[in-house]
Amino acid sequence: MSRSAHPAGPRHADVLPEGHYSAPPADLNTLDPKVWAQTVDRGADGVVRVGGVDVKALAEEFGTPAYFLDEADFRARARAWRTAFGQDADVFYAGKAFLSRAVVRWLHEEGLNLDVCSGGELATALSAGMPADRIAFHGNNKSTEEIHRAVEAGVGRIVLDSFQEIVRVAHIAQELGKRQRVQIRVTVGVEAHTHEFIATAHEDQKFGIPLAGGQAAEAVRRALKLDGLELIGIHSHIGSQIFDTSGFEVAAHRVVGLLKDIRDEHGVELPEIDLGGGLGIAYTSADDPREPHEIAKALTEIVTRECEGARLRTPRISVEPGRAIVGPTAFTLYEVGTIKPLDGLRTYVSVDGGMSDNIRTALYDAEYSVALVSRTSDAEPMLARVVGKHCESGDIVVKDAFLPADLAPGDLIAVPATGAYCRSMASNYNHVLRPPVVAVKDGDARVIVRRETEEDLLRLDVG
Ligand code: LLP
Repeated sequence: MSRSAHPAGPRHADVLPEGHYSAPPADLNTLDPKVWAQTVDRGADGVVRVGGVDVKALAEEFGTPAYFLDEADFRARARAWRTAFGQDADVFYAGKAFLSRAVVRWLHEEGLNLDVCSGGELATALSAGMPADRIAFHGNNKSTEEIHRAVEAGVGRIVLDSFQEIVRVAHIAQELGKRQRVQIRVTVGVEAHTHEFIATAHEDQKFGIPLAGGQAAEAVRRALKLDGLELIGIHSHIGSQIFDTSGFEVAAHRVVGLLKDIRDEHGVELPEIDLGGGLGIAYTSADDPREPHEIAKALTEIVTRECEGARLRTPRISVEPGRAIVGPTAFTLYEVGTIKPLDGLRTYVSVDGGMSDNIRTALYDAEYSVALVSRTSDAEPMLARVVGKHCESGDIVVKDAFLPADLAPGDLIAVPATGAYCRSMASNYNHVLRPPVVAVKDGDARVIVRRETEEDLLRLDVG
């Protein structure tokens, strides 16, 4: 079925996607620690808590829908990545997954660097005190103003994405009397998603400069000639929600091949290699992500082995995890509004948010879990589809999940693992107001991104 065949996206009409739970879990009240943030548990009264605060109190204070982010979990995951890669490597958190000034401060405190991909992300990072030299600037079409601001601020690296940009950045750096540290993003002909990767001869996509046809080698040649640039390494990013390191193995092999060609042609050994982000998380109990220390060990071994084979000094490695750090740390809390049982099909449960706070289900056919969190229930499981309040039939939050059959309007349900690419991709579709992000830690909850108001909407509409 083509993606445009049904307004709800592919597989809308399936009862259950392949490989999904074919039977309800044994106990609907149990929270699988794989998909929930670390401090989430169910109190003796049956109400779910995060950071020691129960969701009923949170809903009362902050309203619904809202994202609740477990700060201790975020810091622990950031630290785990930092520790796993050690002092000889750098971890750049990918801000596109979710960025706010509080997050920037946590990252700074935990010793991580930051990858930004727009002027807005750069402004957020700088305004929260991230040292510019710990920022990497990405993007396939950075504007002249953005490049100017980044060079002027002194960002640690700009990742060059096209031949035009090589010249543009060199020119701006020279104008400002600077020499900008840069990497060149190459496409290595590997596309990885979940458990599979596809190795192809060339890449049909907008990012990076292809290794194929000697294009990346030509980009290096041009960058090395320009006074405004200091070429420090090669960058590659192969995909999203990846569980297996075999795609990185092929990518590293090809990037190291380029480093070797550069050494042979120019007598220069570039000191850095960036393997990008894309490491997967558990959205449902069926997902099995690997721990940061396993990933760090595998990636370091791969690069070291490849470099030994090519007789190159092992470059400093950097990685850019976004989802793997922030994804599991937050859940979205919704209030149930209406419940529609459709005989022989499933029950539609409508909540007070939807595709404006989580577009991933509609856009990527992403799978999520859901649980009743304001109380426990011993009722039978019912096959439910959690939908939003938007005027669109594709407005699905959780496609197929079991919820207790006594679910009622006013109950609170929560969707875990919504920390990445939910608030950051949120929209105002139907003039629905974007929910707040509330950080919870040690019994305290504080808003880090406030809820949008009608005033905010009307302020942009100049009449
Ligand atoms: N580095 C680069 C150069 C990237 O392009 C990306 C993601 C990352 C790092 C971070 O990837 P992560 O570790 O978060 O998977 N909106 C989509 C994901 C798009 C990712 C784009 N680039 C989603 O919701 O799944």
